[in-house]
Amino acid sequence: MPAYRSVFKDEAKLDINYVPSRLPHREAEIRLLTEFFSFALSTPKEMTQRVLIVGNVGTGKTALSQRFGADITRQAKQRGINLNYIHVNCRQYRGSLFLILNHAVSFFHPTFPKRGFSAEELLNIFLQVLDEQNAYAIIALDEFESMVEKSGAEPVYQLTRLQEARLGRPQRVSLICIMKSLRAIEGLDPSTRSTLQSNIISLEPYRYEQLVDIVRDRVQLAFKPLTVQEETVCLIAELAHSEGGNARFAIELLWRAGKYADAEGFDAVTPECVRKAVSSIYTVARKGDLAGLRLHEKLLLLGLARFFKENDDRAYASLTEVEQAYAVACEEFDLQPYTHTQLWKYLQVLSAMGIIKKGVSSAGHRGRTTLICLPRIPARELERELITLLEREIEDK
Ligand SMILES: Nc1ncnc2c1ncn2[C@@H]1O[C@H](COP(=O)(O)OP(=O)(O)O)[C@@H](O)[C@H]1O
Ligand SMILES: [Mg+2]
Repeated sequence: MPAYRSVFKDEAKLDINYVPSRLPHREAEIRLLTEFFSFALSTPKEMTQRVLIVGNVGTGKTALSQRFGADITRQAKQRGINLNYIHVNCRQYRGSLFLILNHAVSFFHPTFPKRGFSAEELLNIFLQVLDEQNAYAIIALDEFESMVEKSGAEPVYQLTRLQEARLGRPQRVSLICIMKSLRAIEGLDPSTRSTLQSNIISLEPYRYEQLVDIVRDRVQLAFKPLTVQEETVCLIAELAHSEGGNARFAIELLWRAGKYADAEGFDAVTPECVRKAVSSIYTVARKGDLAGLRLHEKLLLLGLARFFKENDDRAYASLTEVEQAYAVACEEFDLQPYTHTQLWKYLQVLSAMGIIKKGVSSAGHRGRTTLICLPRIPARELERELITLLEREIEDK
């Protein structure tokens, strides 16, 4: 029997959570972050910092922050400074300050009890722990918008004002807030917003040539020599470029294309493997996103999926049609539909995630109206996936 052959040398280097030691084309941003936090290596007691990292999906926000966090804590350690980088995905903690702080405290005390404290108390406990250990923390609040959505300005206010009650005591906690766009914080009160907005690092979508470099770098790390053709790299970069300069899409595509090559027993990852991968990636990639949606976002999407399943010759649905379909889905699960305004917000969320596309009809005789389109997931597949998720979620309640 022939030994199992693979084009991969180290598949883990393509894992979504892997942070490469080098981030091509983000050198300037790393330098800027290092600059903003230079005090942390020289006079950590004296000040704290707040930085915003803003950019679309796949522009490297999470990777940048984590790379920086790992680098600076290593440097701090060499200087005998107890600096800790705590990366929190706010969505994963349902945007709750309480859960986020609980995570932050258990970073230092893994057996810390999960209940019995308010967010306010947790904040004090956290500071106390840092004081006791003479430690400093940089908390990276990734997907920050979900915290603002969930709890509004209050937790942001609490976090940004942390130090004010500690005048004269060592400064301990800095923040990196990571979000897709500054729109997320538009609704906050002006003074909270201005304390946040002083240092902004904006990540532009990657250009084609930059994506080529990123993919090439990852090929070196993850694949055996000469298994990935240059043409393949270019095609991946091309596709990721048209997906909005999205490096995540590129890495995912690279991994999938490799899997196809292995499945077919090829010695090399050909452009045809990429073409196969891209046709499957849309559905699979979105499925992960679906699980993270809120209940009524799922219901809205379910309504939309059904609408397009029943009207399979239609590319667009009107807002009224979407609302009707959503109401039917709510009824099925015995839930009260939300108002028009709330729905509008959900549509923004789904559109920002790229699951749906919003457009405006050309000025016909009925005037301009909003149209909703489901560009890349087959309606049937979306429906099936959502029903599974919804049934599980409602059972859990
Ligand atoms: N400059 C880069 N160099 C190498 N890999 C990158 C770079 N930017 C992003 N990536 C990779 O692309 C993927 C998406 O990046 P990520 O930081 O998750 O984007 P975002 O958080 O902005 O959505 C990750 O696998 C990450 O390692
Ligand atoms: Mg991210």
